[in-house]
Amino acid sequence: MTRPISPYHAPGFYDDALAQGRHRDIVGGRWEETGLVQMQLLLAAGLDPQHRLLDIGAGSLRLGCRAVPYLLPNHYWATDLSGALMRRGYDAELADKTRLSPDHLIEDANFDLHGLPDDIDFAMAFAVFTHLPLTFLQTALPNIRSRFPRLQKLLFTVFLAPDPALARSPLRQPDGVVTHPNRAPYHHLAEDVLAATQAAGFAATLSDPYLPRGQRLCTALPC
Ligand SMILES: C[S@@+](CC[C@H](N)C(=O)[O-])C[C@H]1O[C@@H](n2cnc3c(N)ncnc32)[C@H](O)[C@@H]1O
Repeated sequence: MTRPISPYHAPGFYDDALAQGRHRDIVGGRWEETGLVQMQLLLAAGLDPQHRLLDIGAGSLRLGCRAVPYLLPNHYWATDLSGALMRRGYDAELADKTRLSPDHLIEDANFDLHGLPDDIDFAMAFAVFTHLPLTFLQTALPNIRSRFPRLQKLLFTVFLAPDPALARSPLRQPDGVVTHPNRAPYHHLAEDVLAATQAAGFAATLSDPYLPRGQRLCTALPC
């Protein structure tokens, strides 16, 4: 049997996990810490309440339940492979539901970004491309770049391998997680990640703030 691209792509994964009430666990747990880290990154990047934020691969709204109270009502949008996971986060985690219409949660398996407004200012994809082969990043980046003419910054995370030789084997990242060249969680080479961002029309930098599980941050500015 072929292995699914990621655990998320295994048949019945979301139905089983949601039936067991595991909407926090399946986005990686560490709920408070990881939501806060994402919010701090966005605030440092210049996110203001009047901006419109797109949370790509938003899961159960670990970021959303912090960003929605900060942003003006309905200035948050979310996409994910699983609409059911986002809706569970909405129902279980969002304190004030009057601040976000549920039709801002868009199921999107292919990063084609349908159903979203054009006037997105900031986008975040946290711990999403860490679970996907590089081809998904290479598909998503040009879509993000062309779809949102007002975009100021895209932030996303990856796991990196230090060089091509080490990239061929499993690697232990600083926070202990083991990443792989050919299965989730995936690591990539910095030069491949930067080449993909540049090819899509972004000027990008990789940095190394403290991020859960040893992820690296890519900050991409449209150019
Ligand atoms: C580790 S979780 C992170 C969720 C969220 N960004 C957060 O930090 O809480 C990875 C998320 O990526 C989503 N995902 C996986 N493959 C995807 C795809 N092809 N398109 C969109 N979302 C995807 C999963 O459903 C899951 O919610």
